[in-house]
Amino acid sequence: MLKEPSSNPLSELHKKTSSKWRRYPTDVLPMHVAEMDFDVAPQIRAEIIDRASHSDLGYLGPIPELGEAMKVFAASRWEWQLDPNLVSPVVDVGVAAVEIFRVLAKPGDSVLINSPVYTNFFTWIDEAKLNMLDVPLIKSNDNWTLDLAGIESAFKAGVKLYLICNPQNPVGRVHSKLELAAISNLAERYGVIVISDEIHAPLTYLDQTFTPYLSIPNSETAYVITSASKSWNIAGLKAAVIVSGSKAAATKISTMPPAVHWRTSIMGAFAMVTALTGAVDWLDETLLELDKNRKLLKTLLAELLPEVEYQIPESSYLAWLNLAAFGENNSWHDQLISQGKVAIVAGQDFGKQYKNYVRLNFATYPEVLIEGVNRMKLGLG
Ligand SMILES: Cc1ncc(COP(=O)(O)O)c(C=O)c1O
Repeated sequence: MLKEPSSNPLSELHKKTSSKWRRYPTDVLPMHVAEMDFDVAPQIRAEIIDRASHSDLGYLGPIPELGEAMKVFAASRWEWQLDPNLVSPVVDVGVAAVEIFRVLAKPGDSVLINSPVYTNFFTWIDEAKLNMLDVPLIKSNDNWTLDLAGIESAFKAGVKLYLICNPQNPVGRVHSKLELAAISNLAERYGVIVISDEIHAPLTYLDQTFTPYLSIPNSETAYVITSASKSWNIAGLKAAVIVSGSKAAATKISTMPPAVHWRTSIMGAFAMVTALTGAVDWLDETLLELDKNRKLLKTLLAELLPEVEYQIPESSYLAWLNLAAFGENNSWHDQLISQGKVAIVAGQDFGKQYKNYVRLNFATYPEVLIEGVNRMKLGLG
């Protein structure tokens, strides 16, 4: 069960020590970083307490439970039959991406991305000293879709790797099976290796169908990188997985430093097992709350800020808001903080051409969301 919020959720939330609650002064309402305000699932809290009370906090050893947990969750949630032996632990999704880049590409090689996309896609590519090539999503019929023709041209031009975000942060799009099948055919034709960041997938709303990239035919050379960290709100526990599309793909990355395994937290890895196998009810309850919030935000914006363009996301708790009606502005972020006392993420963090957008996190209690939209109104006024 999700805990009932206290009568004043903000005073409780401000006691938290995570980045979300420490980055800005206490008079600023933080609605920026992708962290939920809800309590962590009781099953995960019990697992952590149990591990601590047994002083079982050493280095992570072999963890067959993780592959098995992924297999069970993926089969029941998405009918994806994955081989548990192809699942390996890694400290977080960012390290997974960078280490895969380092093994599969050499400095100067190009990685394709599709903006607007999660800020760190840019930093991971820099960290591995690779070139970034962007084929932006196409905005059509109020939705954002992959530009398949643009992607083919980029593949033809010699892109080595393609880092796809599915579901896509910040637009909340769940790429369709058809789009993914087209990508896998192109990747096969042009010899491009696909790395699919599926960290938001468990948060796909029940009216949508998420398709894991590795469940698509011809995806054997690809990798999925994911974690329980977003969906179960445990980013600080530091654990994620790489799922290889085949034994050959796993062998290809077997030259990664052994530290990739060793740096993973034992607490995080076992918490992920508990999340995937024992806290699915909590996930479903959380999704119902988020579903109410994504619609509440639509209502609030229609009432208070009808000029803001907002497409209800198909997955996760991030709202991509178009503020263009308020005029050209390079610093909505600063204005919203100084004038409205609300923190969001600036659109240009997801690609430089998105300066008229902001991203708002709505994974909170309804009263906090109402407060947030009122502060946005003040900030934009
Ligand atoms: C698409 C995407 N990938 C990865 C991450 C971060 O994952 P990690 O903390 O495991 O590196 C986020 C965080 O918001 C994200 O949205």
